[in-house]
Amino acid sequence: MICLGIESTAHTFGIGIVNNKKVLANVKAAYTTKSGGIIPMDAAKHHEKNWKSVLEQALSDAKISLDDVDLVAYSRGPGLGPCLRVAREVVKELNKPFIGVNHCVAHLEAGKWETKAKDPVLLYASGANTQVIAFEGGKYRVFGETLDMGVGNFIDSFARYMGLGFPGGPKLSNLSDSSDKEYIKLPYVVKGMDVSFSGLLTNLKQKYDSNNYKKENLAYSMQETIFAMLLEVAERAMAHTGKNELLLGGGVACNNRLQEMSKLMCKGRKAKCFIPSNSLMLDNGAMIAVTGLKFYKGKKEIIESKPYERTDDVKIE
Ligand code: ATP
Ligand code: FE2
Repeated sequence: MICLGIESTAHTFGIGIVNNKKVLANVKAAYTTKSGGIIPMDAAKHHEKNWKSVLEQALSDAKISLDDVDLVAYSRGPGLGPCLRVAREVVKELNKPFIGVNHCVAHLEAGKWETKAKDPVLLYASGANTQVIAFEGGKYRVFGETLDMGVGNFIDSFARYMGLGFPGGPKLSNLSDSSDKEYIKLPYVVKGMDVSFSGLLTNLKQKYDSNNYKKENLAYSMQETIFAMLLEVAERAMAHTGKNELLLGGGVACNNRLQEMSKLMCKGRKAKCFIPSNSLMLDNGAMIAVTGLKFYKGKKEIIESKPYERTDDVKIE
């Protein structure tokens, strides 16, 4: 069975094509800016302009025609309304059997599918979401999460404040790499199993404005602090549940330092650390296709978006 997946929840329009064994194509066009953040209507316009060429490229990479596609999967949410509308329009145009997929569940399913992790605690660190998750009783249960913004949005906000543009994650990561690794003390906010970033953001902006610190060292200290916060909660979830696998997911998990710290934590607990490839962790169509293929049972649905659907709203059958 060949499934074509459409990702269009935010900054990225992606089409992935998979069969039961492997990814045949994973093409995307990402909306970026030089200085400001995402403007939802502009991102949607970007997707409208690019979807046909992304589709053609994906079919050509997979060496198939649209006739060979058995199933279309699309991201139904969570996401930005105008971008989700583009996904619905493309599903209509393709006129195939289809299934709607939750974007967050897709991040997790794609990682499991690729790494073959069996029963992991998942650290899902992306733009809008930051959750520590484990699968129990037919659902992904959220053990801990951010109390305010997602870790990626936090990183992007600080990068935007520094005039670095969107997405800020890779830019701050490069800055950190070129720092002299002088740790500047920052607020470390873990409350029970949850984390919070807004106070840290205010503090970083004040330090940046004071001109007393090198921006490279601010980037370095920010990374050390937030990744330690995330891994403290992930490690506690592993201890509570007795699970001995950690699986990373979401765009922020592309970060080299987070990967390094995750491996160290797992080594200390004699646990396994699973890290999917970057192309599957950033928003992409293949993760939607993999998830659609797994959950499609031949049921007819209506094409709809669920802009606020949470990871733990989804019943996994
Ligand atoms: P969600 O999945 O919660 O809806 P999203 O789809 O916007 O959010 P992803 O595409 O999974 O998020 O991830 C995008 C985020 O990843 C951005 O905030 C970006 O700055 C961040 N990011 C990408 N690469 C890196 C990196 N190397 N280091 C840190 N952050 C990164
Ligand atoms: Fe995402």
